[in-house]
Amino acid sequence: MCGIIGYIGSKDVVPILVESLKKLEYRGYDSAGIAVVDENQVHLKRVKGKISDLEKSLKSSTPNGSFGVGHTRWATHGRPSEENAHPHRDCTDSLVVVHNGIIENYLSLKKKLTDEGHTFRTETDTEVIAHLVEKYFRGSLEKAVQQAIQELEGAYAIAVISLQDSGKIVAAKIGPPAVVGLGDGEYFVSSDLNPLLSYTQKIVFLEDEEIAVLDSQGVNFLNFQGKPIKKNADHITWSPLMVEKSGFKHFMLKEIFEQPQVVRDTLKGRISLDSGKVFLEEIGITPQALEKVKKVVIVACGTSYHAGLVAKYFIETLARIPVEIEFASEYRYRDFILDKNALVVVISQSGETADSLAALRAAKRQKPLSLAVCNVVKSSIARESDGVLYTHAGPEIGVAATKTFSAQMAALALLALYLAQIKGKIQEQASLPLIEDLQRIPHKMEKILNQAASIEELALEFVSFSHFLYLGRGINFPVALEGALKLKEISYIHAEGYPGGEMKHGPIALIDEKMPTMTVIPKDNVYEKMLSNISEIKSRVGYILAVAFEEDEEILERVDRVIPIPSANPLFTPFLTTLPLQLFAYYIAAKRGADVDQPRNLAKSVTVE
Ligand code: AGP
Repeated sequence: MCGIIGYIGSKDVVPILVESLKKLEYRGYDSAGIAVVDENQVHLKRVKGKISDLEKSLKSSTPNGSFGVGHTRWATHGRPSEENAHPHRDCTDSLVVVHNGIIENYLSLKKKLTDEGHTFRTETDTEVIAHLVEKYFRGSLEKAVQQAIQELEGAYAIAVISLQDSGKIVAAKIGPPAVVGLGDGEYFVSSDLNPLLSYTQKIVFLEDEEIAVLDSQGVNFLNFQGKPIKKNADHITWSPLMVEKSGFKHFMLKEIFEQPQVVRDTLKGRISLDSGKVFLEEIGITPQALEKVKKVVIVACGTSYHAGLVAKYFIETLARIPVEIEFASEYRYRDFILDKNALVVVISQSGETADSLAALRAAKRQKPLSLAVCNVVKSSIARESDGVLYTHAGPEIGVAATKTFSAQMAALALLALYLAQIKGKIQEQASLPLIEDLQRIPHKMEKILNQAASIEELALEFVSFSHFLYLGRGINFPVALEGALKLKEISYIHAEGYPGGEMKHGPIALIDEKMPTMTVIPKDNVYEKMLSNISEIKSRVGYILAVAFEEDEEILERVDRVIPIPSANPLFTPFLTTLPLQLFAYYIAAKRGADVDQPRNLAKSVTVE
């Protein structure tokens, strides 16, 4: 995915565009650029590289101007290069566009426009938008954009400016997100909230097939047929500080340490410590409708998929409802069968993941109930589901998901309890011990974070390893997968998560002194089984680490290194066992000099297939 930003107002636009792009950099960072209209010229500055490289190139000559657009890129069509960096121009260099998404019919459009005399300079799909708007331009930029987008197939959030109809920014959206910020005499369009929070908390979320026309007087909205529409603004409570590093070296480390508070915030106001009742009426699906649910299908990608695997244990154990968990990228293409009493739960922190959105849309054709578990208010998946359960994690800037994983587990634990109470599987009073255990989790998380220094010391012993095996069983098998994902995605060390019972079916052939194993082994119903896995590995000179309860004496004799955690209700141990694995991956990656917050080839939200 990429990040787009547009500003129009009375301030100097360049610093605003650059600072905004820094807050969008987690969306894509292989090239960047801005375009500013200054008197009778469009000034373009583009670089291959990061925003810091763009800043350096601007030092030599900084254009003036009070409106312009900017872009930070995660290349889909056309290799990362200055020429392929946005903004892209029309033939006259007087009209520019920035774009997030994919134009699927760009090749046929490019051929048609070339036959009509347009000259193309890049390999990108985006450039066809600039030439199409140029083709239809007859004096009104919004009219030209409205006509041009009729020919586009695919997904896009765009912002366009032109010298021929100066003093305005025209934005249009179908698919990837676009939000409009209403400041005091200044207006913004952005791919997400983060850049806007320093200027305004008055936000309008563009829906699919909507156009925004920003000028110095304000913002008007149209539909794709060019008809004016009325849009209401939301007041967003996220503060600018929430997107700052607050003294941490990386956003990821800050977000790891925010997890106890994030779990508290996600639980807050949704449980009663007196009656044991769970309050989730906010999700927008009635208890009567949920009472009829006979099956839950969870669909997600990446870390959110791992949260779904944990939720399978929560829901089956507490609500006694069968749960199927699916990779969204597989489910969307399968000829699946959904009965009418199914509840489809789509877990997505960004609410914009293309595969998860497509899987939701595919499922909805069979008319199940649908529930989104999202972190971003009014994101596409949230808006297109029957109901939404928000995780209150605040903006997550690090590409690697950490605090949103804990928030998702907290929200899903509540959902499982809520379903259990609605289905009469657990009486409210009988829920109290579980709720008290859940309430104790954040404090236990803090105890683990307090030993971060010893986890760092241990991690540094493994900086030069090239392979890792992560093992867990039961509700901690998803934690083994998540721990392996963290290590591979930020340190680039190959790591595999496996259920402990699968060792004998192949992976044990890998074990040698160059392949350490991280085991997740709290005292639960599969503890003894995990111990036998450890013995199998030990007898093959494998190096073993274990995340285990601090009072567990036996494990100390069985493995090479132990990371102790406080004991907890077995159902809630993933909140605790995950933290050391996040820190372990973080410290290794940081020591290896990897770009922890913006790992190579990754994007925070995969809004393209
Ligand atoms: C996890 O660290 C990654 N950032 C990635 O796997 C992510 O979880 C996945 O792309 C799903 O994103 P979503 O939750 O926004 O849908």
